[in-house]
Amino acid sequence: MDFDVQFEQYRQRVERGLDELAPPAGTRPARLHTAMRYSLQAGGKRLRPVLVLATAEALGSKTDALPAAVALECIHTYSLIHDDLPCMDNDDLRRGRPTAHKQFDEATALLAGDALLTLAFQLVARHYAGQPALCTALTRTLADAAGSEQLIGGQMEDLLAEKKADATADDLEFIHLNKTAAMLTATLVAGGLCGGATEPQLATLRDAGRHLGLAFQIVDDILDATADTATLGKTAGKDARAGKTTFVKLHGLDASRKFAREHSAAALAAIGRLPGHTTFLIALVQSMAGRNK
Ligand code: IPE
Ligand code: IPE
Ligand code: MG
Ligand code: MG
Ligand code: MG
Repeated sequence: MDFDVQFEQYRQRVERGLDELAPPAGTRPARLHTAMRYSLQAGGKRLRPVLVLATAEALGSKTDALPAAVALECIHTYSLIHDDLPCMDNDDLRRGRPTAHKQFDEATALLAGDALLTLAFQLVARHYAGQPALCTALTRTLADAAGSEQLIGGQMEDLLAEKKADATADDLEFIHLNKTAAMLTATLVAGGLCGGATEPQLATLRDAGRHLGLAFQIVDDILDATADTATLGKTAGKDARAGKTTFVKLHGLDASRKFAREHSAAALAAIGRLPGHTTFLIALVQSMAGRNK
């Protein structure tokens, strides 16, 4: 089947999953639940939840991976809401709409982010209770990736490295590995766990996730410097204005493109070592490297 058609089918499953598994907007307090849905349903690319489903299915999943996929998207969306807050990146536009704190207010955005992070763990606990080993492994995978030593630690160092004249390539790698690659690794591992991956296969997925995540954030840095706001759905050119330590700042555009290609190729090589029907997964990783937003 054509990649775009297949991606669209996966994406629609994710949209239905998000709609079914997030509390209705009218749930009291309606302002909070409306804000959660506002950010969740703003039309992100849904790469992480589609990766969860595609990885699980490549390995021949017998477990429904949709709640895990939705959980990943909830954590990702929370991280974007908080990333955009005035005390962090101070962005007005996200996914083509005003950011949560612009549409609502800062307190509501903060709480909607908190609630989406918590919802992720609630979904895992509720939907995988009948498979305790899977439930524990998913919980640990998400908690490790979202915690202070990975996603939040990466965000902390991203802020500490703003306007830092002597930031090194090692500092930058720490930031990218933790703020972005950790969650993409958790995405592939969550799919692997639902698909019944063996420990060596999970190690291969971790290797793929590390490279995919580095490639993904390098491309994000390149797009910030080269694409336009309308295409991105978020404000272009912000990294340079904020003095962020990015691949483009430290290595320039050409070297950044080369690093992105190398990490994508390494991710694809790792996925190529997996058994099962990986054709769609491989096409998905290729499309992420060539994305324009
Ligand atoms: C943006 O992620 C944040 C980064 C980790 C670079 P995406 O580019 O996947 O954002 P959405 O989900 O499509 O909005
Ligand atoms: C953010 O990186 C990664 C997250 C953990 C949210 P960026 O700050 O570069 O993401 P964008 O460009 O705002 O989406
Ligand atoms: Mg940021
Ligand atoms: Mg940002
Ligand atoms: Mg960015």
